[in-house]
Amino acid sequence: MADAGPRVIADPALFRAACDGARGAGLKIAFVPTMGALHEGHLALVDEARRRGDVVAVSIFVNPAQFGPKEDFDKYPRTLEADVAKLAARGVELVLAPEASSMYAPGHATAVRVEGLTRGLCGGKRPGHFEGVATIVLKLFNIVGPCTAVFGRKDYQQLKVIERMACDLDVPVTIIGHPTVREQGGLAMSSRNAYLSAAERDRALLLSAGLRAAHGMWARGERMIGALRRAVVASVDKAADSVDYVTAADPDTLAELLDSTVAEDRLLLAVAARVGKTRLIDNTVLGEDAPPGGEPA
Ligand code: PAJ
Repeated sequence: MADAGPRVIADPALFRAACDGARGAGLKIAFVPTMGALHEGHLALVDEARRRGDVVAVSIFVNPAQFGPKEDFDKYPRTLEADVAKLAARGVELVLAPEASSMYAPGHATAVRVEGLTRGLCGGKRPGHFEGVATIVLKLFNIVGPCTAVFGRKDYQQLKVIERMACDLDVPVTIIGHPTVREQGGLAMSSRNAYLSAAERDRALLLSAGLRAAHGMWARGERMIGALRRAVVASVDKAADSVDYVTAADPDTLAELLDSTVAEDRLLLAVAARVGKTRLIDNTVLGEDAPPGGEPA
């Protein structure tokens, strides 16, 4: 099946039937939801899904409900043919590539809201974003019926929101968080990196460099949150045209931690900033993740 490339299906009902068929044959489905413009970060998730399931299903859907009115929905890169070729090379069996009209029927009126975890970080800057994400992901889970679904730690808050939603709503799926895949030099891979000019890409490296510097301080024993966070701020300020946030937070609850406090065994540092017109995010969990771009000096 893999040799012939994946079955690419636009109709969610047909996709569900294909998944029913696989499950009926006793096969476990591992699922990777995406918005396409696939890069090695996405493909690492696909490889992880391959290890965890008998059939790998990938969705490619630029979900209008998770974009704000002034965001980049219209210009978000759409590269379906190239994406399918990449998935074929990874042996993916099933690709769902629906139209917005078949995911949101006229009269659509239901949304999933996850409280608490969505208050800070990107939730504070992108009203409605995580409601759009949680709703589409639950819909996709219901269409696909996966045993396992793989998400990237690059979108750390999203991963936590999906874990919470699956737990709270008894969705029978195991959520796997995969480490952030980075370019050489540390820049987190993102479909939005395609918007960056060469000069902006160089500047964008300073986001992960700031996180790497904090890892170096952590390794030397620094636990004052203000000192760790300010190291990131110093680097991000050099790179960014505007900064949405540089936040230290509890990695489990995402509650923001004050500069005057001391970190325990793990600490989330998360950044969102614009380089040129492109909004980039990055994060690391000190005490848990490998330093972005290799061991700091
Ligand atoms: P998208 O941005 O296409 O990302 C799809 C998945 O790939 C997400 O789980 C994301 O965290 C992961 N990913 C992206 N870049 C990564 C990187 N550099 N390393 C590791 N994983 C990476 O996230 C979405 O789409 C959407 O919100 C979606 C979940 C599909 C719902 O519409």
